[in-house]
Amino acid sequence: MPALALTGGAPVRTQPFPAWPVFPEPDIAALTDRLRAGDRSDDDPVIEFEQAFAAAHGARYGIGVNSGTSALELALQALRLDRGAEVIVSPITFFASVSAILNAGLVPIFADIDPDTYNIAPAAIRAALTPRTGAIMTVHFGGVSCDMQPILAIAQRHNLAIVEDVSHAHGGTWNHRGLGSIGDAGCFSCGSGKNLSAGGGGVLITSDPVIHERASGYGELNHPRRQRRRELTGARETRPATDEFFPYSSGNRRLHPVHAVLGLPQLQRLDEQTARRDANGRYLASLLDDIDGVTPRRQDPFATRAANHLFVLRYDAHAFGGLSREVFVKALNAEGIPCQTEYHRPMHHADLFKDVDGELTRVWPRANGAPDVDYAAMHCPNAERACAQEMVTLPTRVTLDTRDGMDQILTAIEKIQTHQSELASYVPDTPSEQSQWSISGS
Ligand SMILES: Cc1ncc(COP(=O)(O)O)c(C=O)c1O
Repeated sequence: MPALALTGGAPVRTQPFPAWPVFPEPDIAALTDRLRAGDRSDDDPVIEFEQAFAAAHGARYGIGVNSGTSALELALQALRLDRGAEVIVSPITFFASVSAILNAGLVPIFADIDPDTYNIAPAAIRAALTPRTGAIMTVHFGGVSCDMQPILAIAQRHNLAIVEDVSHAHGGTWNHRGLGSIGDAGCFSCGSGKNLSAGGGGVLITSDPVIHERASGYGELNHPRRQRRRELTGARETRPATDEFFPYSSGNRRLHPVHAVLGLPQLQRLDEQTARRDANGRYLASLLDDIDGVTPRRQDPFATRAANHLFVLRYDAHAFGGLSREVFVKALNAEGIPCQTEYHRPMHHADLFKDVDGELTRVWPRANGAPDVDYAAMHCPNAERACAQEMVTLPTRVTLDTRDGMDQILTAIEKIQTHQSELASYVPDTPSEQSQWSISGS
């Protein structure tokens, strides 16, 4: 009689983990009310959402935008770096962090991760600095804070801006300060799977009135909301002085009010949900301490509250008799534990940097005066190993469960380890079947 669910045994867990995202009935009613009111409505939920979102994360200003990618693009544009300036970023992130850099006319430079935390390593940032470096983008991967103290020191010393990509880390903190409020600007996605889901859209937060004013201008030139924001905050571009003069090309990145209506009640629940995600994550990490071959990423003391958009594990096949990561994930899924291997390639190996023949040689963009950047020569061995062999992620709804759920994860992993021989001849199916809970671009 097989023990493992993958080979016909009974699964450890039969109840689903909590659904995510959740829109309770009153939220749906507020949304339909708003749709019925249409443009006749006098109130502007976007301004209310922006202000509440910024306050919840410890920043002065917020700008609602149509995506997290737009927030990143606006933040980078607002820095007004020279075209072709370099932005140092982790290779372990979603594609949007990198495309935002390129779309802003800047050049991504990848600095390797710390092998234990999976966030960008300050030493690698130092090694990647050049006279053309203009900014550092800190991606709080999976919702756990980057090591901000040395990063702030590097930025100050070299006069660099910091843009935080906080799309995995709504409600998370570093030294008890809201992630997104530590650098010059913080950029959040409120897309449907995110820890704060407004069904779409994003928010840029900043405490810098100049960034606020510029990003507002680039995102929604001459829209009434921009004027209203200015009235409310008293923000002004430093130069030029007149209100209407904005001699830059801009786009329409506005957040639609329906997303603000959906986001406002989610914001009220964020604190309690993040506390639960953090507490369960810490508990699960303590349970996994005793298991060989499945190591939770290290969470340093400065990461005072982890948003755990993804709970990241490092898998070592040797401790499971050579069982491939894909089969391990499949076996855990069969035991009723959602998990996936979704970051298969580090960003410096993205198709974007390949020529048509698939070789890693493309230099893009060839910005005016910027020397070529050879992505084929860029090595980030820790990120490469994490993507190719180690990283397994549990989606955010897992840490929204109870402690019992965390205990079941431990039980399921122990069960796979004990009965690994049942899987010795198991042949995995197609990649899509291997990660049925995978949400691309989470
Ligand atoms: C780390 C990260 N940055 C940026 C984004 C972009 O957000 P959006 O999809 O709202 O444009 C995402 C979205 O998945 C993300 O995961």
